[in-house]
Amino acid sequence: MKSPLMLIGPENRVLVQNEAMTELLKIDFRGRQYITALRQPAAIDAVANAQKDHVTKSARYVLHVGTRDRIFELSAIPVDGHVIVAFEDQTAAEETLSLRRDFVANVSHELRTPLTAILGFIETLQGPARDDATAQQRFLGIMATEADRLRRLVDDLLSLSRVEELERTRPVEPVDLGLIVSQATELLGALAADAGTKLISRIPNDLPKVPGDDAQLQQVLNNLIENAIKYGATDAGIEIALHPPAFETALHQTAIRMTVTDHGIGIPAHHLIRLTERFYRVDLHRSRAQGGTGLGLAIVKHITNRHRGKLLFESVEGQGTTVTLMLPVAVT
Ligand SMILES: Nc1ncnc2c1ncn2[C@@H]1O[C@H](COP(=O)(O)OP(=O)(O)OP(=O)(O)O)[C@@H](O)[C@H]1O
Ligand SMILES: [Mg+2]
Repeated sequence: MKSPLMLIGPENRVLVQNEAMTELLKIDFRGRQYITALRQPAAIDAVANAQKDHVTKSARYVLHVGTRDRIFELSAIPVDGHVIVAFEDQTAAEETLSLRRDFVANVSHELRTPLTAILGFIETLQGPARDDATAQQRFLGIMATEADRLRRLVDDLLSLSRVEELERTRPVEPVDLGLIVSQATELLGALAADAGTKLISRIPNDLPKVPGDDAQLQQVLNNLIENAIKYGATDAGIEIALHPPAFETALHQTAIRMTVTDHGIGIPAHHLIRLTERFYRVDLHRSRAQGGTGLGLAIVKHITNRHRGKLLFESVEGQGTTVTLMLPVAVT
């Protein structure tokens, strides 16, 4: 049996203890009173009650292993005057649950901000600003912006859950990265010009196609270019480059690099590893002001994983940022 098990006899002594249990408790308790082995009151009660009532009892059992808590569900199963004690590791399940709770809390918070603003302005329009045409125009404008933010948030959440769902199936259609770059620069050229910058693309000839999902790779590049425009617009421009295939030790195979480089504010080093977390923003106010939801790079990360690629952030504060996407040229 892989799960930790123990058999307790009528005399309250540990009769049998399997290897997994010894590994967990670090001590062989055979022949000794079970309370010296289990020690936690809830666990001892569960065993005592199982003996007394002849029904299976359970309890939560927390063990500190190294720096980490491991959480078990302990079952005490009565059999012919003996009690079998079984441990089931719940750590991963509890962690998933807590991640999900955090996520729901974050989503609720993100939704509440624009909703509160919209509701506030509706009240103002119904009351104090009822006869003020100028104010009405202005408030309606703000409401439209906030409603748009809500829509974008919902779109991004849907996109994220779709990408997560697909993550385990690797896309294999041959994709022309050169085409993706030229489409993206065309699509976002006007946005860049509005922000006072320009997009400069470098596409080498004779690039092989890579196995991928065309729409998702477009989404990745659009996200990266949008970020460069939002946080890195300068008159030095933004470079989008493809590099000839080369062996990448990080991937143990040949890959094509796609880089997006800006010359903007940059990102302080300690933020770099957290950028792809959902809702993570370096400067919350700046991102909000730009209509950001903080989900862009989380989506980029999932798409990269799906392609078995790698994402690299390099930045120097005050000088700019380069985001590199490595994409394997073959399915191995
Ligand atoms: N090129 C960049 N230069 C400086 N900071 C950046 C750059 N790209 C991303 N960031 C920082 O990383 C954060 C996370 O980026 P991400 O794309 O996930 O979210 P967002 O742009 O705020 O919102 P969204 O992409 O969902 O609209 C941004 O809020 C910003 O602070
Ligand atoms: Mg973004």
